[in-house]
Amino acid sequence: MQTRILTGITTTGTPHLGNYVGAIRPAIEASRRNDVDAFFFMADYHALIKSDDAARIERSRLEIAATWLAAGLDPARVTFYRQSDVPEIPELTWFLTCIASKGMLNRAHAYKAAVDRNTETGEDPDAGVTAGLYMYPVLMAADILAFDAHQVPVGRDQIQHIEMARDLGQRFNHQHGREFFVLPEALIEEQVATLPGLDGRKMSKSYDNTIPLFAGGSKQLREAIMRIVTDSRAPGEPKDPDNCALFTIFRAFASEAESEAFRSGLLDGLGWGQAKQVLYERIEADVAPLRKRYEAFMADPAAIEVILQEGARKARAIAAPKIAALREVLGLRPMRTAATSMGRPDPSPKAGRAPRLSSFRDADGTFRFRLFSAEGEELLLSRSFADPKTAGAMQKRLKSLGADGAMIQTRALGMVLEIDGEIVAKTPDYRDEVARKQALGQLRDALDQLAARD
Ligand code: TRP
Repeated sequence: MQTRILTGITTTGTPHLGNYVGAIRPAIEASRRNDVDAFFFMADYHALIKSDDAARIERSRLEIAATWLAAGLDPARVTFYRQSDVPEIPELTWFLTCIASKGMLNRAHAYKAAVDRNTETGEDPDAGVTAGLYMYPVLMAADILAFDAHQVPVGRDQIQHIEMARDLGQRFNHQHGREFFVLPEALIEEQVATLPGLDGRKMSKSYDNTIPLFAGGSKQLREAIMRIVTDSRAPGEPKDPDNCALFTIFRAFASEAESEAFRSGLLDGLGWGQAKQVLYERIEADVAPLRKRYEAFMADPAAIEVILQEGARKARAIAAPKIAALREVLGLRPMRTAATSMGRPDPSPKAGRAPRLSSFRDADGTFRFRLFSAEGEELLLSRSFADPKTAGAMQKRLKSLGADGAMIQTRALGMVLEIDGEIVAKTPDYRDEVARKQALGQLRDALDQLAARD
């Protein structure tokens, strides 16, 4: 089975070397693996939480798309799209909002940090805090759950958001008695380098210490590298490679052998100016061919638009049926179906319509099946079977039981079906005793109809 990996990039900035080494390059490498099904998207709804500068958001979306494509992302292999092109995401956000506890959101780091800052300065705790910032983790959970992502590569600062996505997915699954959502895991790449920036702290937009990846061309790349802070050792004095940003950045691009050569150079007293030139040339060797592609994409936004539209189509082909199924279980159904479940069964079931069994492969690779009534309502969900043969044999048994041969017991808000003393399937949970009784009637009818057909 393929692992679905999904990650989003907030479109507020211009990609820098740290993004390239820490996120873009490893993500694209992973996307080339055969056992990976990769989803990368531009989180432009999240960008609206951070910025109201339309021109900046527009520019950032273009730069980020061009950067990922230039860096080797293959849109035929990867599902590459904009969050704002997938209306199922905000729809799911609302569904999840309705089960998210306010207490959980109160504990989200970004919101808490804003409140703490306000409290320190004697402001009202929520001064300047938008509901968008507060809801940030729910939107992110929808990004992930809409696609049943298994793994989400993120920085450490995002781990809490992945845990909240799990929590929301689990809550929904539990409430509805089946595995609607895959519960995602954060993927923290331990061996991927975090690059130091110009001042030696982590390279980050928020510290204003970044080295641009493509923007400004080779000239700006060189200028930025020349501004990296070093100590005051003169040429000829040995330098300490293990405590120097230059060497850390160099290593993120170079082979072992190249790094060893650079290390001895520093130990032998290479001047900082020369060392920076060596670093510049090494990075430029990797970046120059990508920059050429980047510039070609930047000059042709319409070509990127076509790629992203196709990505949105692929993304929606997965999210739309999922959201449709959720609407169904939440009670947002066509009127006819709703009337049936309110206790007014279709007076004349159409000829040829019969209860049906439907097999599927669960996210964890096991085999299960469902029993639907002639009206298409779910009556039973089977337990997991390790192989399709056992699942098939159990369906056969179920078909031959008939209502009187079936051992049905109530459990909590639903019912379970036992065969040979083992629980084989369970019903959904029902609102109340009346609904459960009615469902029992439907289940017995369906079992009789199945048995009569066999
Ligand atoms: N919040 C993430 C960040 O700032 C971006 C993001 C939005 C994301 N939605 C996501 C990352 C879904 C992974 C999965 O880095």
